Amino acid sequence: MSTGIIEKIQTLKKQRNAVILAHNYQPGDIQDIADFTGDSLALSVQASQTDADVIVFCGVLFMAETAAILSPEKTVLLPEKGAGCPMADMINVQQLQELKNKHPEAHVICYVNSTAEVKALSDYCCTSGNALELVQTLPKDREIIFVPDKNLGGFIVERTEREMILWPGYCSSHMLIVPADIEAARKAHPNALVLAHPECNPDVRALADELLSTGGMLKLAETSDVNEFVIATENGIIHSLQKQNPDKRFYPATEKAICPNMKKISLEKVVWALEDMQYQITVSEPVCSRAKRSLDRMLEVLPS
Ligand code: 13P
Ligand code: SF4
Repeated sequence: MSTGIIEKIQTLKKQRNAVILAHNYQPGDIQDIADFTGDSLALSVQASQTDADVIVFCGVLFMAETAAILSPEKTVLLPEKGAGCPMADMINVQQLQELKNKHPEAHVICYVNSTAEVKALSDYCCTSGNALELVQTLPKDREIIFVPDKNLGGFIVERTEREMILWPGYCSSHMLIVPADIEAARKAHPNALVLAHPECNPDVRALADELLSTGGMLKLAETSDVNEFVIATENGIIHSLQKQNPDKRFYPATEKAICPNMKKISLEKVVWALEDMQYQITVSEPVCSRAKRSLDRMLEVLPS
């Protein structure tokens, strides 16, 4: 890794009074230069609390949009404008409005992996880190619509025994993990604990020992007596798991579990972002205020 480019980023960061936030799925060199790495929930908390003037968001569009909604007075930069999330684009406002018209009394929860417009049309937002806690705060006599991830939604239904109306969206990167991968990994590493993300398919979830957000995986790996783990989520997280637990072993369930959008950010693009103040992510009114309402509700339910 070039030290020159890292020094350049540090200098530009000071000049701009910027903070660099990176998701756990980012390339390792990006995680290493970030001021803060975390899961979607922890990054949202950071974005809402930072004193910096500029937030460089190393992640995908919905994450930068979330930061812009939570801190509208700050400049939020996404170093690669084409870094989107296919799952977030699997439902649009028209589709959500039609669903709401069919179930006018239902509470609407959207996964944070959604567009600002969909958040604005929802009552609550959640991440995989607080979805269970959030659903448990809702009255049992009201229907719940959950969009866009059918897998996170299915996981909530299994754990809370609450019926929900699920939108058929999914994460194309987590779909690449199949049951045969878990079976093979268990054979190869019989002492390992299998940690899977709730975005995995139900047949993969059924084979896991624990279903956790990426932040939850990091917490468990650190506190557990177990020394080996099979990781069924996007493989970027192996970098932080290994860095935080140098004496433990982490095996990806499959090398295929890569999110191409998360990997679009590079050190060079972070330099260009800070030099040219690009690409600025803003969310206009009234969408911003409406989406902030569901995000504020998300931030009220932080897991212990
Ligand atoms: P978390 O890091 O919140 O578990 O999110 C997973 C994800 O797919 C983000 O795009
Ligand atoms: Fe979207 Fe999946 Fe990539 Fe997360 S890992 S940004 S859900 S495509």
